[in-house]
Amino acid sequence: MKIAIIGAGYVGLVSGACFAELGHQVICVDNDSSKIKALNKLHIPIYEPGLEELVKRNHRHGRLSFTADIARAVKDSLVIFIAVGTPPKENGEADLTGIESVARSIARAMDSYRLIVEKSTVPVETGKWVKHTIEINKKKKVTFDVASNPEFLREGQAIKNFMQPDRIVIGVESKKAEEIVRELYGALGAPMLVTDIKSAELIKHASNSFLAMKISFMNAVASVCELSGADIERVAEGMGMDKRIGRSFLNAGIGFGGFCLPKDLDAFISISEKLGYNFNLLKEVKKINESKKQDFIKKIENSLWNIKEKTIAVLGLAFKPDTDDMRFAPSIDIIEKLQSDGAKIRAFDPQATQKAKVIFRGVKFCSDAYEAAKGSDCVIIVTEWSEFKELNLKKLKKLLKQPLIIDGRNIYDPHKLEGLGFKYVSIGR
Ligand code: UGA
Repeated sequence: MKIAIIGAGYVGLVSGACFAELGHQVICVDNDSSKIKALNKLHIPIYEPGLEELVKRNHRHGRLSFTADIARAVKDSLVIFIAVGTPPKENGEADLTGIESVARSIARAMDSYRLIVEKSTVPVETGKWVKHTIEINKKKKVTFDVASNPEFLREGQAIKNFMQPDRIVIGVESKKAEEIVRELYGALGAPMLVTDIKSAELIKHASNSFLAMKISFMNAVASVCELSGADIERVAEGMGMDKRIGRSFLNAGIGFGGFCLPKDLDAFISISEKLGYNFNLLKEVKKINESKKQDFIKKIENSLWNIKEKTIAVLGLAFKPDTDDMRFAPSIDIIEKLQSDGAKIRAFDPQATQKAKVIFRGVKFCSDAYEAAKGSDCVIIVTEWSEFKELNLKKLKKLLKQPLIIDGRNIYDPHKLEGLGFKYVSIGR
């Protein structure tokens, strides 16, 4: 099937490469011509395990191409996925101007039936507006369908998530649209849920907000654990054994970041309010998340006495492991606060250094965890990269001014660390 994917960001690029891998003819479009130039030279702008090979292979086989020319892509394709960004506005609402402008461009270029599929995360009722925009902007008397097909991939494991999804959600208004989308994904043999467009849109916002709620709930329980002397890791284990709860997304820490959970939570609160529902529960989820970063700073302060003039080794900058994504990474607020309190920062991240260099001023970026630790007053763990779990802690101890680790992700066993002579501070235990 011939597919155009508008927006070559995380979702667009991964989906495009995966659809090509399934045998479809895919053209990825982006209005950033420097990105398209780079992609045509097979330079992948993001770090995502397995993506580079997938893009290269499908490009070589002629199933995947890149262009900045949206009209050409629309003319050449039956199905057009909208995968452009929906960034947050000042007031927390999703900015949908990108979606509208793409819908207009699609409308102008359509010369026969097209299926336009929203893949970007959008508030409920966006489909209605996309349909209206296309209707009033189309130049020819052609029919079209709009569908919603939210993407649930997680950065760091995006290809696996696309190829082996828990579910594929399709929101449609016609049998024809349903059949086309079913055929697109047919090779995956994954469970499919077909709904109306509004429900599909809502499934995405509700799912991300629910995940955020799980994390904030555990972060709140972690605070109670600290006050009572219980161990959050044991509590999570015990709760997770209940199949109705499940163990995943019960990890307490310094809160959730990234470009999805925080912004989708805000957008869901906003759209609910607009529709007339005050989603106080989600407002609290957000508050707890913010407070976790402050709690972490407090732990650092309590362990170092004064932060001023202390050198702090920061391990991990990306918002989570296996990605170089720095968007809404907790490391940003944490490092900026430590710097404003007078600390010197030596930082290391296995993948995100390049992107972090654009964000931070006055940070010494190191080539590994040991170099970061050298001469520092403590190590703080901000992202739980698996290589940090394998560090030679005896070596690390020798490099530090004092054996102090403040761990925002609970990656070590406290008994082991204490046995090695560390003062070890973690979350909820
Ligand atoms: C999230 C969702 O998990 C995906 O299903 C969704 O498709 C995606 O957003 C999206 O909307 O595009 P992602 O942002 O890649 O995926 O990251 P997650 O793995 O969900 O992690 C989000 C944040 O939560 C990270 O900062 C992570 O460190 C934190 N987290 C996660 C915890 O603090 N505790 C946990 O137990 C799990």
